[in-house]
Amino acid sequence: MNKRMIIKSYPVKNSLKGSVAIPGDKSISHRSIIISSIANGKSIVSNILKSEDVLSTINAIKSLGVKIHKKNNKLIIYGKGLKSLKIPKKELYLGNSGTTARLMSGILASQSFKSKLTGDRSLSKRPMDRIINPLKIMGANFKSNNKMLPLIIIGKKNLKPLNFRLTVPSSQIKSGLLFACLRVQGYSKIIETSITRNHTELMLKQFKANISITKKNNYKKIIIKGGKELKPCNIKVPGDFSSAAFFIVAALLVKGSHIKLKNINLNPTRTGLLKALTLMKGNIKLKNIKIINKERVGDIVVKYSKLKGCYLNNKFASTMIDEYPILSIAAANAKGSSKFTGLKELRVKESDRLMGISNNLKKFNIKCLVKNNGITIIPNINKKNRIVEINSKGDHRMAMSFAIMGMVSEKGVKINNSEYIKTSFPNFISKINSIGAKILR
Ligand code: S3P
Repeated sequence: MNKRMIIKSYPVKNSLKGSVAIPGDKSISHRSIIISSIANGKSIVSNILKSEDVLSTINAIKSLGVKIHKKNNKLIIYGKGLKSLKIPKKELYLGNSGTTARLMSGILASQSFKSKLTGDRSLSKRPMDRIINPLKIMGANFKSNNKMLPLIIIGKKNLKPLNFRLTVPSSQIKSGLLFACLRVQGYSKIIETSITRNHTELMLKQFKANISITKKNNYKKIIIKGGKELKPCNIKVPGDFSSAAFFIVAALLVKGSHIKLKNINLNPTRTGLLKALTLMKGNIKLKNIKIINKERVGDIVVKYSKLKGCYLNNKFASTMIDEYPILSIAAANAKGSSKFTGLKELRVKESDRLMGISNNLKKFNIKCLVKNNGITIIPNINKKNRIVEINSKGDHRMAMSFAIMGMVSEKGVKINNSEYIKTSFPNFISKINSIGAKILR
């Protein structure tokens, strides 16, 4: 990560108005690069997210001998098929990207060579045992720093079929395991009992993998048969709902606002925030809904609303895990208190987001109570009459969430370590300023 960045977000004088094109979805970008690189031939991916995390995936894949060319706004990826990837010349540095680390572990565990994953300070503190343990059952071996990065993966060409029930609700783990299963001769079974994002399953179907899914409420069984070549495909990456979330909440909070966000991924495994904000009486409408590459895509129209507090139980968590920081900003500016439970996973994201939300909201005289992996937020109408300084702890979503808080504060918010915004949304500041915000560097 290059130079430190401090930003200041000032109260918005008028309202937010206009239409915004939100950059490509991060999860779908990672998956489209990885799946194309193991498909049998040339795939073209358009509207890929140009962020540091996605660049980590591109670099890792290139180091494994896959050719990727850029042409206009497109990536052309020459997939290697089921053939072995190339032994990387050096360690694969993955920066801040947890998704790259977990997804690539699955790819590398099924190769007949040794590789090493490293990352930045935050990534080197994040748990990898959740992916190491099931991959070990399949026959791969690992050397790690106490189940964290740096991680050495001793891959194996003929892994054993997997029969596994996910113990943590994690799409990253599910996806990493599915990738490992693609090179196994025979059927593997993965069971999940909480809904997590299903982009990998949808994209594998799109690339004609031998995968079948049965579902009943929150119970899902995935059966995948390895050894079949994936058929190359052209992918159009839709706008990122998790990035759109900052704009949605900003428009709900700033008086008189009316904005439109176009071509956003509306996969129901991702949009728990829409349900939550509707419960809070937010005026949000979806338009032009269509299916592109098996993904639901549409426009989101948001108008300023007087929000009310709400209670969200554990079942919401996995369909909006990345949105709790920005939801907490909505809750902090609503009428009445809010309570969200089942947030254990928030503690192992780019930072401990549960404590980050609570510690930073307290600086605005907002009462927060963290108990049993849940949080209660009690708003305070008396706003701080000075600039409030927060530390994002190098977490992009915390930095962007508190930038939105600044827009409805009395004097503004100063956010340290905002350079990490580049991991997921490099042009966040210019995009939000274009509809009326005032965020300065
Ligand atoms: C992601 C899954 C989520 C999410 C992360 C991206 C993905 O993590 O927090 O930002 O692309 O699979 P978990 O699945 O580990 O909860």
